[in-house]
Amino acid sequence: MSPVLASSVSPSSRNDSAAADPVRPRLLTGDRPTGPLHLGHLVGTLRNRVRLQDAYDCTFIVADLHMLTTRNAPEQIAEIDANARTLVLDALGAGLDPARVTFYLQSLVPEVLELAGLFQSLVSVNRLERIPSLKEMARDSGQEMSFALLGYPVLQAADILAVRAEAVPVGKDNYAYVEVTREIARRFNARYGEVFPEPETVEGDVPTLVGTDGQRKMSKSLGNAIALSDPAPVVRKKVMGMFTDPNRLTATTPGRVEGNPVFAYLDAFGADIATIEALKDRYRAGRVGDVEVKAYLVEVLESVLQPMRERRETFAAPGVVETLIEEGSERVRTETRETLRLVRTAMGFAGVHTRLHRRARKAGGGLPGA
Ligand code: TRP
Repeated sequence: MSPVLASSVSPSSRNDSAAADPVRPRLLTGDRPTGPLHLGHLVGTLRNRVRLQDAYDCTFIVADLHMLTTRNAPEQIAEIDANARTLVLDALGAGLDPARVTFYLQSLVPEVLELAGLFQSLVSVNRLERIPSLKEMARDSGQEMSFALLGYPVLQAADILAVRAEAVPVGKDNYAYVEVTREIARRFNARYGEVFPEPETVEGDVPTLVGTDGQRKMSKSLGNAIALSDPAPVVRKKVMGMFTDPNRLTATTPGRVEGNPVFAYLDAFGADIATIEALKDRYRAGRVGDVEVKAYLVEVLESVLQPMRERRETFAAPGVVETLIEEGSERVRTETRETLRLVRTAMGFAGVHTRLHRRARKAGGGLPGA
Protein backbone atom coordinates (compact mmCIF):
# COMPACT_ATOMS: atom_id res chain seq x y z
CA MET A 1 0.00 0.00 0.00
CA SER A 2 1.32 3.43 -0.88
CA PRO A 3 1.96 5.87 1.97
CA VAL A 4 -0.86 8.11 0.82
CA LEU A 5 -3.31 5.25 1.17
CA ALA A 6 -1.98 3.97 4.42
CA SER A 7 -2.64 7.32 6.01
CA SER A 8 -5.84 8.15 4.19
CA VAL A 9 -8.07 5.13 4.52
CA SER A 10 -7.09 4.04 7.98
CA PRO A 11 -10.20 4.64 10.12
CA SER A 12 -8.22 6.14 12.95
CA SER A 13 -6.91 8.98 10.82
CA ARG A 14 -10.28 10.48 10.07
CA ASN A 15 -12.93 12.11 12.10
CA ASP A 16 -15.45 9.32 12.17
CA SER A 17 -18.39 11.38 13.27
CA ALA A 18 -18.12 14.18 10.75
CA ALA A 19 -21.32 15.62 12.21
CA ALA A 20 -19.54 16.27 15.46
CA ASP A 21 -17.04 18.60 13.84
CA PRO A 22 -17.78 21.88 15.57
CA VAL A 23 -15.73 24.07 13.23
CA ARG A 24 -16.38 23.23 9.63
CA PRO A 25 -19.89 23.65 8.22
CA ARG A 26 -21.30 20.69 6.35
CA LEU A 27 -21.20 20.60 2.56
CA LEU A 28 -22.90 18.16 0.20
CA THR A 29 -22.63 17.79 -3.53
CA GLY A 30 -22.21 15.07 -6.11
CA ASP A 31 -23.11 13.57 -9.44
CA ARG A 32 -25.13 10.87 -11.07
CA PRO A 33 -22.94 7.89 -12.04
CA THR A 34 -23.44 8.20 -15.77
CA GLY A 35 -19.82 8.06 -16.87
CA PRO A 36 -16.36 9.51 -16.41
CA LEU A 37 -15.90 13.14 -15.37
CA HIS A 38 -14.52 15.55 -17.95
CA LEU A 39 -12.91 18.98 -18.23
CA GLY A 40 -16.32 20.63 -17.91
CA HIS A 41 -16.72 19.06 -14.47
CA LEU A 42 -13.21 20.13 -13.56
CA VAL A 43 -13.87 23.84 -14.11
CA GLY A 44 -17.56 23.75 -13.21
CA THR A 45 -17.40 21.91 -9.92
CA LEU A 46 -14.35 19.74 -9.21
CA ARG A 47 -11.81 22.51 -8.70
CA ASN A 48 -14.25 24.21 -6.46
CA ARG A 49 -14.72 21.02 -4.44
CA VAL A 50 -10.99 20.63 -4.01
CA ARG A 51 -10.75 24.19 -2.73
CA LEU A 52 -13.69 23.79 -0.39
CA GLN A 53 -12.49 20.64 1.35
CA ASP A 54 -10.38 22.71 3.76
CA ALA A 55 -13.14 24.99 4.94
CA TYR A 56 -16.04 22.54 4.88
CA ASP A 57 -16.85 19.10 6.13
CA CYS A 58 -17.47 17.60 2.68
CA THR A 59 -19.72 14.76 1.63
CA PHE A 60 -19.99 13.63 -1.98
CA ILE A 61 -22.99 11.71 -3.21
CA VAL A 62 -22.95 9.23 -6.05
CA ALA A 63 -26.59 9.79 -6.91
CA ASP A 64 -27.64 6.52 -8.50
CA LEU A 65 -31.28 6.89 -7.42
CA HIS A 66 -31.35 10.21 -9.26
CA MET A 67 -29.88 8.51 -12.29
CA LEU A 68 -32.85 6.11 -12.25
CA THR A 69 -35.22 9.02 -12.94
CA THR A 70 -34.06 9.01 -16.56
CA ARG A 71 -31.76 6.01 -17.01
CA ASN A 72 -33.35 2.91 -15.60
CA ALA A 73 -32.83 0.14 -18.16
CA PRO A 74 -31.15 -2.99 -16.74
CA GLU A 75 -28.01 -2.31 -18.83
CA GLN A 76 -27.78 1.18 -17.36
CA ILE A 77 -28.27 -0.07 -13.82
CA ALA A 78 -25.61 -2.71 -14.42
CA GLU A 79 -23.11 0.09 -15.08
CA ILE A 80 -23.67 1.86 -11.75
CA ASP A 81 -20.92 0.05 -9.87
CA ALA A 82 -18.23 0.71 -12.46
CA ASN A 83 -19.38 4.29 -12.96
CA ALA A 84 -19.43 4.97 -9.21
CA ARG A 85 -15.88 3.73 -9.01
CA THR A 86 -14.81 5.95 -11.93
CA LEU A 87 -16.54 8.97 -10.44
CA VAL A 88 -14.80 8.60 -7.10
CA LEU A 89 -11.43 7.87 -8.73
CA ASP A 90 -11.78 10.96 -10.93
CA ALA A 91 -12.57 13.09 -7.90
CA LEU A 92 -9.62 11.68 -5.94
CA GLY A 93 -7.37 12.22 -8.95
CA ALA A 94 -8.49 15.84 -9.11
CA GLY A 95 -7.29 16.33 -5.55
CA LEU A 96 -10.01 15.38 -3.09
CA ASP A 97 -8.52 13.91 0.05
CA PRO A 98 -10.17 10.66 1.22
CA ALA A 99 -8.99 11.31 4.76
CA ARG A 100 -11.08 14.45 4.95
CA VAL A 101 -14.09 13.85 2.71
CA THR A 102 -16.86 11.28 2.59
CA PHE A 103 -18.03 9.53 -0.58
CA TYR A 104 -21.25 7.56 -0.56
CA LEU A 105 -23.60 5.68 -2.82
CA GLN A 106 -27.13 7.04 -2.49
CA SER A 107 -28.91 3.68 -2.86
CA LEU A 108 -26.93 2.33 0.11
CA VAL A 109 -28.80 4.89 2.25
CA PRO A 110 -32.42 3.84 1.66
CA GLU A 111 -33.57 6.05 4.55
CA VAL A 112 -33.17 9.01 2.20
CA LEU A 113 -36.29 7.77 0.39
CA GLU A 114 -38.21 7.87 3.64
CA LEU A 115 -37.11 11.44 4.20
CA ALA A 116 -38.04 12.37 0.63
CA GLY A 117 -41.44 10.78 1.28
CA LEU A 118 -41.99 12.93 4.34
CA PHE A 119 -41.02 16.02 2.32
CA GLN A 120 -43.54 15.32 -0.43
CA SER A 121 -46.35 17.17 1.30
CA LEU A 122 -44.19 20.29 1.63
CA VAL A 123 -44.05 21.06 -2.08
CA SER A 124 -46.74 21.36 -4.75
CA VAL A 125 -46.87 19.50 -8.05
CA ASN A 126 -47.38 22.86 -9.70
CA ARG A 127 -44.13 24.18 -8.26
CA LEU A 128 -42.17 21.19 -9.56
CA GLU A 129 -43.84 21.30 -12.97
CA ARG A 130 -42.54 24.83 -13.46
CA ILE A 131 -38.87 23.78 -13.29
CA PRO A 132 -37.59 23.93 -16.89
CA SER A 133 -34.65 21.53 -16.48
CA LEU A 134 -36.97 18.68 -15.48
CA LYS A 135 -38.97 19.11 -18.67
CA GLU A 136 -35.71 19.16 -20.63
CA MET A 137 -34.53 15.99 -18.92
CA ALA A 138 -37.82 14.26 -19.77
CA ARG A 139 -37.53 15.40 -23.38
CA ASP A 140 -33.84 14.44 -23.71
CA SER A 141 -34.48 10.98 -22.31
CA GLY A 142 -37.33 10.47 -24.77
CA GLN A 143 -39.66 9.62 -21.92
CA GLU A 144 -42.79 11.11 -20.46
CA MET A 145 -42.38 13.08 -17.25
CA SER A 146 -42.38 10.30 -14.67
CA PHE A 147 -43.46 10.66 -11.07
CA ALA A 148 -39.81 10.01 -10.13
CA LEU A 149 -38.46 12.71 -12.42
CA LEU A 150 -40.97 15.25 -11.15
CA GLY A 151 -39.77 14.33 -7.67
CA TYR A 152 -36.08 14.72 -8.58
CA PRO A 153 -35.70 17.99 -6.64
CA VAL A 154 -37.50 16.53 -3.62
CA LEU A 155 -35.10 13.59 -3.51
CA GLN A 156 -32.20 16.00 -3.84
CA ALA A 157 -33.63 18.04 -0.96
CA ALA A 158 -33.65 14.83 1.07
CA ASP A 159 -29.98 14.16 0.19
CA ILE A 160 -28.98 17.66 1.23
CA LEU A 161 -31.10 17.88 4.37
CA ALA A 162 -30.36 14.29 5.47
CA VAL A 163 -26.87 15.41 6.36
CA ARG A 164 -28.14 18.91 7.25
CA ALA A 165 -25.73 20.46 4.78
CA GLU A 166 -25.35 24.21 4.72
CA ALA A 167 -23.41 24.55 1.48
CA VAL A 168 -24.19 22.94 -1.88
CA PRO A 169 -21.67 23.71 -4.60
CA VAL A 170 -23.38 22.87 -7.89
CA GLY A 171 -23.59 24.10 -11.47
CA LYS A 172 -26.30 26.47 -12.68
CA ASP A 173 -28.43 23.56 -13.86
CA ASN A 174 -28.88 22.57 -10.21
CA TYR A 175 -29.72 25.96 -8.70
CA ALA A 176 -33.44 25.37 -9.07
CA TYR A 177 -33.18 22.14 -7.06
CA VAL A 178 -31.31 23.84 -4.25
CA GLU A 179 -34.01 26.51 -4.27
CA VAL A 180 -36.63 23.78 -3.79
CA THR A 181 -34.49 22.40 -0.96
CA ARG A 182 -34.48 25.81 0.73
CA GLU A 183 -38.25 26.06 0.40
CA ILE A 184 -38.72 22.61 1.88
CA ALA A 185 -36.37 23.39 4.77
CA ARG A 186 -38.14 26.69 5.45
CA ARG A 187 -41.57 25.12 5.28
CA PHE A 188 -40.58 22.18 7.46
CA ASN A 189 -39.05 24.47 10.09
CA ALA A 190 -42.05 26.80 10.07
CA ARG A 191 -44.58 23.99 10.32
CA TYR A 192 -42.88 21.54 12.68
CA GLY A 193 -40.02 23.34 14.37
CA GLU A 194 -36.43 24.21 13.58
CA VAL A 195 -34.60 21.13 12.34
CA PHE A 196 -32.90 22.15 9.10
CA PRO A 197 -30.43 24.79 7.99
CA GLU A 198 -31.32 26.63 4.79
CA PRO A 199 -28.55 25.51 2.48
CA GLU A 200 -26.82 27.93 0.12
CA THR A 201 -25.42 27.21 -3.32
CA VAL A 202 -21.72 27.84 -3.78
CA GLU A 203 -20.71 28.90 -7.27
CA GLY A 204 -17.90 27.30 -9.27
CA ASP A 205 -15.17 29.34 -10.99
CA VAL A 206 -16.35 28.85 -14.59
CA PRO A 207 -19.97 27.74 -14.56
CA THR A 208 -19.89 25.93 -17.90
CA LEU A 209 -17.29 24.91 -20.43
CA VAL A 210 -18.06 24.65 -24.13
CA GLY A 211 -17.46 21.26 -25.79
CA THR A 212 -14.73 20.47 -28.31
CA ASP A 213 -17.33 21.13 -31.04
CA GLY A 214 -17.55 24.76 -29.91
CA GLN A 215 -21.34 24.48 -30.08
CA ARG A 216 -22.79 23.21 -26.85
CA LYS A 217 -21.79 22.72 -23.26
CA MET A 218 -19.28 19.90 -22.78
CA SER A 219 -21.15 16.68 -22.20
CA LYS A 220 -20.28 13.03 -22.57
CA SER A 221 -23.55 12.27 -24.31
CA LEU A 222 -22.88 14.90 -26.99
CA GLY A 223 -19.49 13.35 -27.79
CA ASN A 224 -17.72 16.70 -27.29
CA ALA A 225 -15.96 15.94 -24.01
CA ILE A 226 -12.36 15.42 -22.95
CA ALA A 227 -12.47 13.02 -20.00
CA LEU A 228 -10.14 13.47 -17.04
CA SER A 229 -9.19 9.82 -17.52
CA ASP A 230 -8.44 10.15 -21.26
CA PRO A 231 -4.87 9.02 -21.97
CA ALA A 232 -2.50 11.62 -23.48
CA PRO A 233 -2.81 10.41 -27.10
CA VAL A 234 -6.61 10.64 -26.90
CA VAL A 235 -6.41 14.17 -25.49
CA ARG A 236 -4.07 15.17 -28.33
CA LYS A 237 -6.35 13.68 -30.96
CA LYS A 238 -9.43 15.40 -29.54
CA VAL A 239 -7.68 18.77 -29.34
CA MET A 240 -6.28 18.50 -32.85
CA GLY A 241 -9.80 17.80 -34.11
CA MET A 242 -11.34 20.73 -32.25
CA PHE A 243 -13.58 23.33 -33.81
CA THR A 244 -11.93 26.77 -34.00
CA ASP A 245 -13.07 29.74 -36.09
CA PRO A 246 -15.07 28.41 -39.07
CA ASN A 247 -14.36 31.54 -41.13
CA ARG A 248 -10.65 31.16 -40.87
CA LEU A 249 -9.34 29.43 -43.99
CA THR A 250 -5.57 29.86 -43.56
CA ALA A 251 -3.12 30.84 -40.84
CA THR A 252 -2.93 34.36 -42.30
CA THR A 253 -6.68 35.01 -42.06
CA PRO A 254 -7.38 37.15 -38.97
CA GLY A 255 -9.13 34.84 -36.50
CA ARG A 256 -11.77 35.22 -33.85
CA VAL A 257 -10.75 34.53 -30.28
CA GLU A 258 -14.19 35.12 -28.76
CA GLY A 259 -16.37 32.03 -28.96
CA ASN A 260 -13.38 29.97 -30.03
CA PRO A 261 -13.24 26.92 -27.75
CA VAL A 262 -9.47 26.54 -28.10
CA PHE A 263 -9.00 29.91 -26.44
CA ALA A 264 -11.80 29.23 -23.96
CA TYR A 265 -9.79 26.20 -22.80
CA LEU A 266 -6.54 28.15 -22.68
CA ASP A 267 -8.28 30.74 -20.48
CA ALA A 268 -9.72 28.02 -18.24
CA PHE A 269 -6.59 25.87 -17.87
CA GLY A 270 -3.54 27.92 -18.78
CA ALA A 271 -1.41 29.48 -16.08
CA ASP A 272 0.86 31.57 -18.30
CA ILE A 273 -1.41 34.52 -19.05
CA ALA A 274 1.24 36.50 -20.94
CA THR A 275 1.80 33.65 -23.42
CA ILE A 276 -1.94 33.18 -23.90
CA GLU A 277 -2.52 36.90 -24.50
CA ALA A 278 0.34 36.97 -27.01
CA LEU A 279 -1.16 33.99 -28.85
CA LYS A 280 -4.55 35.71 -28.94
CA ASP A 281 -2.98 38.85 -30.44
CA ARG A 282 -1.21 36.82 -33.10
CA TYR A 283 -4.38 34.86 -33.83
CA ARG A 284 -6.43 38.02 -34.29
CA ALA A 285 -3.74 39.42 -36.57
CA GLY A 286 -3.52 36.25 -38.67
CA ARG A 287 0.02 35.52 -37.57
CA VAL A 288 -0.34 32.08 -36.06
CA GLY A 289 -1.79 28.82 -37.36
CA ASP A 290 -4.46 26.73 -35.61
CA VAL A 291 -2.01 23.87 -35.30
CA GLU A 292 0.45 25.88 -33.21
CA VAL A 293 -2.30 27.12 -30.90
CA LYS A 294 -3.66 23.60 -30.53
CA ALA A 295 -0.22 22.16 -29.85
CA TYR A 296 0.15 24.70 -27.06
CA LEU A 297 -3.29 23.77 -25.73
CA VAL A 298 -2.26 20.09 -25.63
CA GLU A 299 0.76 21.12 -23.56
CA VAL A 300 -1.42 23.16 -21.20
CA LEU A 301 -3.98 20.38 -20.78
CA GLU A 302 -1.29 17.78 -20.17
CA SER A 303 0.21 19.94 -17.42
CA VAL A 304 -3.20 19.75 -15.74
CA LEU A 305 -4.13 16.15 -16.57
CA GLN A 306 -0.84 14.31 -16.08
CA PRO A 307 -0.55 15.00 -12.33
CA MET A 308 -4.20 13.98 -11.99
CA ARG A 309 -3.55 10.68 -13.80
CA GLU A 310 -0.67 9.96 -11.43
CA ARG A 311 -2.71 10.78 -8.35
CA ARG A 312 -5.62 8.71 -9.64
CA GLU A 313 -3.27 5.74 -10.05
CA THR A 314 -2.39 5.80 -6.34
CA PHE A 315 -6.02 4.93 -5.51
CA ALA A 316 -6.61 2.51 -8.35
CA ALA A 317 -5.85 -0.81 -6.60
CA PRO A 318 -8.94 -3.03 -6.45
CA GLY A 319 -10.95 -2.52 -3.27
CA VAL A 320 -9.60 0.86 -2.23
CA VAL A 321 -12.39 2.97 -3.74
CA GLU A 322 -14.96 0.30 -2.93
CA THR A 323 -14.01 0.41 0.75
CA LEU A 324 -14.18 4.20 0.80
CA ILE A 325 -17.70 4.06 -0.66
CA GLU A 326 -18.85 1.38 1.78
CA GLU A 327 -17.52 3.16 4.83
CA GLY A 328 -18.77 6.53 3.65
CA SER A 329 -22.23 5.15 2.98
CA GLU A 330 -22.36 3.65 6.46
CA ARG A 331 -21.49 7.05 7.99
CA VAL A 332 -24.11 8.87 5.95
CA ARG A 333 -26.64 6.19 6.81
CA THR A 334 -26.07 6.72 10.53
CA GLU A 335 -26.36 10.45 10.01
CA THR A 336 -29.57 10.11 8.00
CA ARG A 337 -31.14 7.93 10.68
CA GLU A 338 -30.38 10.59 13.23
CA THR A 339 -31.97 13.24 10.99
CA LEU A 340 -35.04 11.05 10.59
CA ARG A 341 -35.29 10.72 14.34
CA LEU A 342 -35.24 14.52 14.68
CA VAL A 343 -37.79 14.83 11.88
CA ARG A 344 -40.20 12.32 13.39
CA THR A 345 -39.93 13.92 16.78
CA ALA A 346 -40.48 17.41 15.36
CA MET A 347 -43.45 16.20 13.32
CA GLY A 348 -45.00 14.65 16.40
CA PHE A 349 -44.65 10.98 15.60
CA ALA A 350 -43.01 10.72 18.97
CA GLY A 351 -45.16 8.48 21.15
CA VAL A 352 -45.36 4.99 19.66
CA HIS A 353 -42.22 5.51 17.60
CA THR A 354 -40.08 6.44 20.54
CA ARG A 355 -41.29 3.46 22.58
CA LEU A 356 -40.70 1.04 19.72
CA HIS A 357 -37.29 2.43 18.99
CA ARG A 358 -36.23 2.35 22.60
CA ARG A 359 -37.33 -1.27 22.85
CA ALA A 360 -35.58 -2.16 19.59
CA ARG A 361 -32.38 -0.52 20.75
CA LYS A 362 -32.45 -2.43 24.01
CA ALA A 363 -32.96 -5.68 22.11
CA GLY A 364 -30.08 -4.72 19.84
CA GLY A 365 -32.47 -4.95 16.90
CA GLY A 366 -32.68 -2.56 14.01
CA LEU A 367 -35.89 -0.75 13.17
CA PRO A 368 -35.32 1.50 10.20
CA GLY A 369 -34.16 4.79 11.62
CA ALA A 370 -33.71 3.31 15.09
N1 TRP B 1 -28.61 16.72 -9.29
C1 TRP B 1 -27.19 16.40 -9.29
C2 TRP B 1 -26.78 16.20 -10.74
O1 TRP B 1 -26.98 17.07 -11.51
C3 TRP B 1 -26.84 15.20 -8.47
C4 TRP B 1 -27.26 15.29 -7.04
C5 TRP B 1 -28.10 14.43 -6.40
C6 TRP B 1 -26.84 16.23 -6.06
N2 TRP B 1 -28.23 14.78 -5.11
C7 TRP B 1 -27.47 15.88 -4.85
C8 TRP B 1 -26.02 17.36 -6.10
C9 TRP B 1 -27.29 16.62 -3.70
C10 TRP B 1 -25.84 18.09 -4.93
C11 TRP B 1 -26.48 17.73 -3.73
O2 TRP B 1 -26.26 15.20 -11.15
